[in-house]
This record gives sequence, structure tokens and C-alpha cells, in this order.
Amino acid sequence: MTVTVRVPAKVNVQLAVGGARADGFHDLANVFLAVGLYDTVTATPADSLRVTCSGPDAGQVPLDRTNLAARAAVALAARHGLSPDVHLHIEKDIPVAGGMAGGSADGAAALLACDRLWGTGSSRSELLDICAELGSDVPFSLVGGAALGTGRGEKLSVLEVGGAFHWVFAVADGGLSTPAVYGEFDRLTAGADVPLPVASPVLLEALRTGDAAALAGALVNDLQPAALSLRPSLAATLAVGAEAGALAGLVSGSGPTTAFLAKDAEAAGSVAAALVASGTCRTARVAQSPAAGATVVDVLSRD
Ligand code: C5P
Repeated sequence: MTVTVRVPAKVNVQLAVGGARADGFHDLANVFLAVGLYDTVTATPADSLRVTCSGPDAGQVPLDRTNLAARAAVALAARHGLSPDVHLHIEKDIPVAGGMAGGSADGAAALLACDRLWGTGSSRSELLDICAELGSDVPFSLVGGAALGTGRGEKLSVLEVGGAFHWVFAVADGGLSTPAVYGEFDRLTAGADVPLPVASPVLLEALRTGDAAALAGALVNDLQPAALSLRPSLAATLAVGAEAGALAGLVSGSGPTTAFLAKDAEAAGSVAAALVASGTCRTARVAQSPAAGATVVDVLSRD
């Protein structure tokens, strides 16, 4: 049997970051929105655990046991006393190390695929528990749509979204390490009173009503100064998007991908064209949100 799962990328429309906790993580009010850029993970029985990856950026994806897809298979197998003998193939379309939860997406997808392949029949809440163990953003990749993440981002409450939003993502050269960006946040806020992170009522209302202009006015990412400090060239990308008519732009998660909200699909097309022409990013991708979470799209039986 072969099981294929499709899983979306995310953008953080609000990323409110509190001070560092005793465990090194930061308390967040993290409003996730799934966007229609997808990785696909295919699970096939094998003699031992193996991860392969295809796609233009496949070379940047680690294929060892640090890959979240591999870790998901190991975690599920351990819970059920199984050996994680599976070949996981990742078809990668989500920018790598870009702040769009590409690695988390592969973890959630592999978990769902292996659960189906091995017939382990996990409940939704068991799957979410394993996701939370794998990483702060992994539960959202399973859930999709829109959600508020609290704690370190893993405790989710689902949010209503009243319409489609049109995005452009400017993909930068190379990645940014999430721990490094949080470290820079700590350095920049040292000695300051970091307020408790809370979700913005204005932003939640804009999502609920599908109001792109209102959402644009409420977009905020507390990690943006840290990402810009580590990668000052992102300021030029943000300026190009604004000049090209984006309603707003911000760094996506820990970056270095930048996200621009556009009025409609046509405006998104011109913002993307301007970004590519400017040479301030490697490429630009257009996508809509919300998008469904990890979903089994194909099950092939051998007999
Ligand atoms: O949970 P995850 O493995 O994705 O986190 C990666 C890193 O990002 C953590 O090791 C930590 O440095 C940072 N992080 C954080 N606070 C969060 C989430 C992540 O400091 N809420």
C-alpha cells in the first residue's frame, strides 16, 4: 500500500512574542493562516526508514533522522511498538527554511500517512499530541485553515475565516534559522519589558469577515525586527512589495520569506512580477488562503 498526503504552508498574520521562558521557548499569540502552497508526502513500506525529496530546492532538505517527517514516523512507531520501516518521499514545493513551516508540514503529513499505512488508527487528539512533541508549528499543519496558537504556539483554537485572501511570497536566497531569530529577538529586547502576547481582536475580526484591507492594517510580526537585523536586505524586498501596490507586507514567521497581502488575484500577480523584476528576491509565489490542513489524497493498494 502507498499513502499520499498533501499539506499546506502557513503564514503568521499575527506573531506576538513574549519574553523567553525558563525552557528557552517563548510564549506566543500566534495567528496561523494556511496558504495554498503544498508539499506532498508519500509513505510506502520499506526495509528500513528512508527519506527522499524531489523539487527545485530538494538539495537543501536534510534526509537523515533530523527531518521532521522521519521524526514523525519514529514517534508514531514508538507509540505502537512498531519498527518505522517506511520510505517517505517528499515532493517539496514549500520554500525551505523560509518561515512557512515547510518542515513542520512534512512532519504532520508523514504522521498522517504512516498512521494510515500502518493501520494504527490514531484519534485526532493523539495525532495532535505527537505533532506538539515534534515542534511548535506542527499541530497547525495538521489542522490547517486558521487558528490561534498559544503556549509555544502548539495549543490551537480554530478560527473562522470569512473569505479568500490573496498572497504573494517573496522567497529569499538561503534560509534563516528559527532559533537564531528568536535569539536575536532576545538580544534586541534585553532589559525591556516584553508585554504578554495577546491576539488582536481587530485582526481576528478581519479574518472572520474576510476583509483584506482590515487584515492588512492589523498584520504584525514581533520577530520581524530580529529577522531584519540578521538579514537587512529584506527591507528592500518589503519596500518593493509596498511600492507595487501590496496592501501590506511582513516577514513570514522567522523569515526570510516575506509575505504580501494583495487586494485580489490580479494585484497579487503584479506584486509578484514587480518583486521578481526587482532582483531583491530569488523568486515570488502567489497563493490563496485559507487552505485545508494535511489531507490523505491517495491510497494505492498493491493488490
Ligand atoms: O518548536 P520548534 O522546534 O519548531 O522550535 C524551534 C526553535 O524556535 C526552538 O528551539 C526555539 O529556539 C524557538 N522557539 C521559541 N519559542 C517558540 C517556538 C520556537 O523560542 N514559541
